[in-house]
Order: sequence, then structure tokens, then C-alpha cells
Amino acid sequence: MDKFLIQGGQKLEGEVRISGAKNAALPLLAATILADSPIRISNMPNLRDVNTLVKLIAGLGVAIEYAGDTVTADTSTLNNQFAPYDLVKTMRASILVLGPLVARYGEAKVSLPGGCAIGSRPVDQHLKALEALGAHIEVENGYVHAKVDGRLKGGEVIFDVVTVGGTENILMAAALADGVTTIRNAAREPEITDLANMLIKMGAKIEGLDTDTLVVTGVESLHGCDYAVVADRIETGSYLAAAAITGGRVRTTHTDPALLECVLDKFEEMGAEVTRGDDWIELDMQGKRPKAVSFRTLPHPDFPTDMQAQIMAVNAIGRGFATISETIFENRFMHVPELSRMGANIQVEGNDAVVTGVEKLSAAPVMATDLRASFSLVLAALAAEGETLIDRIYHIDRGYEHIEAKLQGIGAKIKRVSG
Ligand code: UD1
Repeated sequence: MDKFLIQGGQKLEGEVRISGAKNAALPLLAATILADSPIRISNMPNLRDVNTLVKLIAGLGVAIEYAGDTVTADTSTLNNQFAPYDLVKTMRASILVLGPLVARYGEAKVSLPGGCAIGSRPVDQHLKALEALGAHIEVENGYVHAKVDGRLKGGEVIFDVVTVGGTENILMAAALADGVTTIRNAAREPEITDLANMLIKMGAKIEGLDTDTLVVTGVESLHGCDYAVVADRIETGSYLAAAAITGGRVRTTHTDPALLECVLDKFEEMGAEVTRGDDWIELDMQGKRPKAVSFRTLPHPDFPTDMQAQIMAVNAIGRGFATISETIFENRFMHVPELSRMGANIQVEGNDAVVTGVEKLSAAPVMATDLRASFSLVLAALAAEGETLIDRIYHIDRGYEHIEAKLQGIGAKIKRVSG
């Protein structure tokens, strides 16, 4: 199993080119199922999760090709609507094929994703929403079987919790439904807007973009198009955090400051100088030790749960103390014991954590537990004295493209070791 060996203590400086967003790429791939002519999506990040979904869609009989940063898909050969447990269990986002399959083909059998490291993460809201559009749903032997006679019917969907995946699934389904669907309490993450924009390019009629009420007027068919994945705001924030924790200066390019305002505000509160360009962001920590900053994770446009672990790592070496409340997932502090092994002072009570900054972290063997938590360990290792070995980095390969090369490019001493 691959590990990272990181020699801490380098002040990171330079430029990082940001990739397409994993969390946008996955729903966009699922949406290819809706197109009745070939579709081409560029700026695809080369990630394990993207490969998993490409494999799953190929398994449906779709002629899908992934070369360079571009995926092309042609659904004319699709011959089944079955997503097996083997693939779904490795990636929860596989459930996103459910809405498109039932909307276009009237039937889908998709494995339940099951629990995951950061919480139980049910899909009840996805299913309830599809039922509101007339799908008949049975859950049996670990599979969701969804069926509809003819087309789905437009209807009123009111989510009980704000769900990113649920909003995406129903948005795709509603695009091909008969009549108007209103989605209330919809998630507003930029990746949802990216999906809506591609669906509109495919011929869908969607109003209310960037708001919590989406109104979709179903159409009979959707066609292919050319589309580029939006920049990854979480990758952007992660590399800016690498500058903050090492006292360095990093410019992220091919990104969009408007996607992560809330996180940039926190960097400024830390004492960093943040400069925003049209498609770049530079963070200069000017060799200073950041001030610890408090925050609460909430749905977009508030502070993203996917940046919680990284900012906690920066707080670990911050001046003063900070409180962090995780309100999205019930078990998303698994990086805390690992950061503590490196000398961090963090007390957890339920979904709240109090971080008291220490002057220095020290290298230790640690273990990655989930995708974003893994990056928090990389950050801690970059700032720590000595050489840190991070095990189970397959988690990080799910969501950070070319991570070693990007970090080496800004002066980090990181290498991948196997065994
Ligand atoms: C997506 C992101 C993930 C991010 C999360 C929250 C992708 C591929 N993943 O995950 O990186 O951390 O949004 O911003 O885009 N819930 C239910 N019932 C449901 C669905 C969700 O109770 O049917 C709960 C979940 O358990 C969780 C909360 O709602 O507590 C938010 O989950 P959701 O927004 O659905 O997250 P994902 O779409 O899985």
C-alpha cells in the first residue's frame, strides 16, 4: 500500500494549477446517461473516483472513453440499468446514476452505497424525491429498484435536509420528467450550478440557479454537448492552506475566487494576505504564524465541511485557540487522533472541537482515514519538524490529482513510497 514520506519545515512558494472539481465531475458523468447524442466533457480530473464512475457507466453498455482530461460518452449502446455493489461500495456518489437511469429508461437497479467512514449517510432523501416524481421504489437485498411506467411526472420535492447528492439526482431526473418540478430546500453548492449549466446546454429548462428553489420544466429529450468541469474549490482551499501552515506564498491558478469566499475570509482572519484575480487566488502568509480561527460547517455558501480538516490542521499551529463545529456529518473528526499524534492540542466533545495552537508539530507515523482528513495530515506533515510517514494514502488519490507533483512544484519535500 502506498504511503507518503514528507520532510517538514519548507516554506511553500509558487504556483499550483487547480484541476476540475471532483464533486462536479461525478454528477456531470452521471448526466451523460441523459443525452441522446454524444457528449464531451473536458477539464476532467484524473482521479480514482472519476475512473470508478467511468467504469460503472461503461458497465451499463455506454461507449465511454476517458483520454487526457476529456471524457466522451455515447449512450446509444446502453443495454442495462444495473449498478453493482462491487463498484457502488467503493464510491457513494455512484447513487447519482439512479435518477438519470429511471428518468430516461424507466427502470434502474442500483446498489445501496452503505455507510462510510464519516457517517451513516443514508439516501432516503434521494428516494423520497424520486417517489414524488412518480417512481415506484423497492429496497431489497441491498439494492434500490426504481421503476416508472412511461415518464416520471413533474412534482413538488421538499428536502428535509440539505443534500448535495439528493439535489443533483432529482435535478437530473426532473430534467426529463413530464411537467414542472419544484425542488425546495435544494443544496446550492457550485457543483450543483455546474451540473445545472451542463443540463441547460443539453436542452434542459432550469430556473433558480444558485438558490434553494430550483424549478425544472421537463423536456422529452436531452442532447449531447461540449462542457468543461468547474474548478475544484476544495483543492484550491487545500493548497492555500499549505501556504498558510508553512508561512509561505502560493498562487492557485485556473480557479475562481467566487467559489470559496467564506474560506478566503477565514484565511484573512488568520492574518494572511489574500489577493483575488479573475481566475487566480494568491495567499501570502509572510512567514507569520497564523491566528487560530473558529468556524461552523454549514451548507454552501457557508463554510464547507470538505475544508474542515484542513483548516483544523492550520489551527493546530495557530496563535490562540479556536472552536470548530461540524454540523454536516456526525463523525468527521477522525483526523483528530492522528493530528494529536503529531503534537496537536485538540479536545473533541460531540461535534465540537477546541483547538489550542502549539508552536510546533512533530513528525510521527500517521494514518489517512478519509479523503479530506488525509490532506490535513499532509498539511501537518509539511509544517512539522522531521519526517512524517502517512499510511493509507489511497484515500487521497480519490480526490487530489497529481498531489505529489503539485506540492513538489511549490517546494515541498514529499515522495510516494510503496510497501
Ligand atoms: C457531497 C460531497 C461531499 C461533501 C458533502 C457535503 C460529492 C460527490 N460529495 O456528498 O464531498 O462533504 O456533499 O457538502 O459531491 N443525508 C441524509 N439523507 C440523504 C442524503 C443525505 O440524511 O438522503 C445527510 C447526510 O448523511 C449528511 C448530510 O445529509 O449528514 C449531507 O449529505 P449530502 O449533502 O447528501 O452529501 P453527499 O452528496 O453525499
